[in-house]
Amino acid sequence: MEPIKKSESRRKFIKTTAVAAGGLMIVPRHVLGKGFIPPSDKLNLASIGAGGKGWGDIRNAYNGGAENVVAICDIDSKRCSNAIEAWPKAKFYNDFRVMLEEMKDTIDAVTISTPDHVHGIAAMTAMQLGKHVYVQKPLTHNIYEARKLTEAAREYKVVSQMGNQGASNAEQVQLQEWFDKGLIGKVHTVHVWTNRPVWPQGIPVPTDRPVRPEQITAKDWDLFIGPAKPVDYHPLYHPFKWRGWWNFGTGALGDMGCHLIDPPFRVLGLGYPTEVECSVGQVFTKDWDAEYIPEGCPPSSHVQIKFPKTAKNKSEVTMVWYDGGIRPFHPDLIPASDDIGEPGSANGVMMIGTKGIMTCGVYGLHPKVYRKNGEVITMPENYTSGSKYLKMPEYGHQVAWTDACKAGFGSAEHRNLTSSFDYSGPLTETVLMGNLAIRSYQTAKMMGEEKHFEGRKRLLWDGNNMRITNYDAANRFVTREYREGWKLI
Ligand SMILES: NC(=O)c1ccc[n+]([C@@H]2O[C@H](COP(=O)([O-])OP(=O)(O)OC[C@H]3O[C@@H](n4cnc5c(N)ncnc54)[C@H](O)[C@@H]3O)[C@@H](O)[C@H]2O)c1
Repeated sequence: MEPIKKSESRRKFIKTTAVAAGGLMIVPRHVLGKGFIPPSDKLNLASIGAGGKGWGDIRNAYNGGAENVVAICDIDSKRCSNAIEAWPKAKFYNDFRVMLEEMKDTIDAVTISTPDHVHGIAAMTAMQLGKHVYVQKPLTHNIYEARKLTEAAREYKVVSQMGNQGASNAEQVQLQEWFDKGLIGKVHTVHVWTNRPVWPQGIPVPTDRPVRPEQITAKDWDLFIGPAKPVDYHPLYHPFKWRGWWNFGTGALGDMGCHLIDPPFRVLGLGYPTEVECSVGQVFTKDWDAEYIPEGCPPSSHVQIKFPKTAKNKSEVTMVWYDGGIRPFHPDLIPASDDIGEPGSANGVMMIGTKGIMTCGVYGLHPKVYRKNGEVITMPENYTSGSKYLKMPEYGHQVAWTDACKAGFGSAEHRNLTSSFDYSGPLTETVLMGNLAIRSYQTAKMMGEEKHFEGRKRLLWDGNNMRITNYDAANRFVTREYREGWKLI
């Protein structure tokens, strides 16, 4: 494809120029010192959203100088000051569209670690210019965007990876091996839970107007809003707390779903769900009249998602999600005093099969099998998946991606990525199905003085066509209303 050739040709150009100009100059690599990486072998990276998690993403991708960082984009120069100090020569921008346009011939690949509502449009803009993309989880803010990014990564032939780093650890490989050996038989039920939200959520929309920190200009704040509905600056939105508001975030499911639903989605080879249903926690500050805050994600939720049989798992699966402090009970097979999921039981997964139960915590850690025949199996201490990246930060999830970018679209390195959009797009869609149900559940129509909640249904999903088939009003949550000038195209 034309765009990808640009970055390839830059590297080829550097190589060719060095050789042509250097008939007399070529220096054997060993003379340059062990570990020397010729500039032509380095990617030129840019970071979009370099504060918070973005600092770790770009630092890991930079990999101690194995790549170059040539540009940083953030709307808050204080929040991303670590990155600015680490790469003083990198050009600083506040608008990723300007950065990508101005530096399209220099940048090869982009890490995107903004709040969720900006992932889709930033990734699409980069991919359309042929840039490889590493995008934080959840891949997008809504289902439509996840489908479009998945298609775009193929169309523009770019190497993609979502930031669910646990996907690259050895524990997830171990879980797959146990399941493939038939240790737990066919899985029919999956429980997944998290202690999130651990930020203000289910609270009234703020009405006060705190002063914007001086480093965030009006233009910066407008860029923060991006495709969302304009609201004034508030520390309940930026930084970090945007998670609890549908305008920007995706709640507890968006925060942890891509880490916790990943193991069963991968191990069982799940695809599009067929239906979803939920209920959410209520808050009463006065008698008989629950707080009604459809702009905010709820304080807790309980969601059931159903999946058809798959090639790997010959049973239909019911997945049950719990958040906000609610968690499943101990099944009989797990001893009464054992923690469930991870130590402390705060987050976890239980895959319940015909022959036993397989459990793990967040990122697939602490994997364990309880079999009906009484066997309890844990991961051997010396177990390794054989991945050369395991000892790196975040299991080398970012470095595996930079290596794949250099090897090119369709290379073995690319195919070995654990969360390219071909996988993480459908995973994200599943996570966001839960949010579609929650938002439908939260929607009230006033009938006189009374609220009428007609979206509190079992919602039937046509995955191929991205449609709820039995309640059309819920289909508006498949996508979002985009602010003028910020459409995903
Ligand atoms: N994989 C993980 O373990 C993990 C952990 C934490 C966060 N995350 C994900 O990382 C993303 C960021 O989360 P966070 O906790 O770091 O949030 P944050 O608010 O702390 O940081 C977001 C950064 O993006 C910047 N930003 C906001 N809007 C921007 C825009 N339009 N253009 C450029 N920069 C912009 C902010 O100034 C800030 O520096 C989220 O998608 C979140 O889900 C993943």
